[in-house]
Amino acid sequence: MKGIILAGGTGSRLRPLTQITNKHLIPVYDRPMISYPLQTLIKGGITEILIVSGREHAGHFIEFLGSGKDHGVKLTYRVQDEAGGIAQALLLAEDFADRRPVTVILGDNIFEDNFKRAVSSFRKGARVFLKKVPDPQRFGVPELKGRTITKIIEKPDKPPTQYAVTGLYQYDAEVFRIIRKLKPSARGELEITDVNNAYVRRGKLQAEFVRGFWSDAGTFDSLARTTQWAIKRK
Ligand code: G1P
Repeated sequence: MKGIILAGGTGSRLRPLTQITNKHLIPVYDRPMISYPLQTLIKGGITEILIVSGREHAGHFIEFLGSGKDHGVKLTYRVQDEAGGIAQALLLAEDFADRRPVTVILGDNIFEDNFKRAVSSFRKGARVFLKKVPDPQRFGVPELKGRTITKIIEKPDKPPTQYAVTGLYQYDAEVFRIIRKLKPSARGELEITDVNNAYVRRGKLQAEFVRGFWSDAGTFDSLARTTQWAIKRK
């Protein structure tokens, strides 16, 4: 299984820091943010990883991580010229995926769990990972019937459940055909939530639950919370 880290976007919620560098290179305690999702993939047993970043500061990712040799993995890089959403960034991974299933993680998502079993067990369809949170309206939120997702709503005013769809996803090769058919959302982006809803409609979206700490470190408050967690973990 190959892995993909999506590290594009403008990082507008972390301005002015993101005027100087890319969001995913901002420190979370003692290392750049992207080190955490990279470790999540590596601990899951993935050794071939594509990093998709925005055009600004793209070279800094290569300076920091190089070929991946220091981590015992093989890294490939692609540039998303303009921020057009997570699904648009994922489309750039089509050749890299080579018609095989992939595990995708957002560059600002920090997980404590180990996903080795999820990586080795995934075959087809799609899988998302849910976490109970106090502020679901910040995220994609699933409507649930038991453990089955009936729909995902992106940043709902009235969240139907207390769960967030975290930024870790597994897809079969069908995902690229789905993305090509997407229309931009109201914020002008190709939304990953629309991709996941396409799998819901096909009856092919599986859900798992995250047990340990999870955070999307893309705002100052969540970045501070994540830093606190990283300090305690030491
Ligand atoms: C994105 C997704 C959202 C998901 C979140 C997880 O939101 O659109 O569904 O819950 O990542 O971090 P964004 O951070 O782009 O606002």
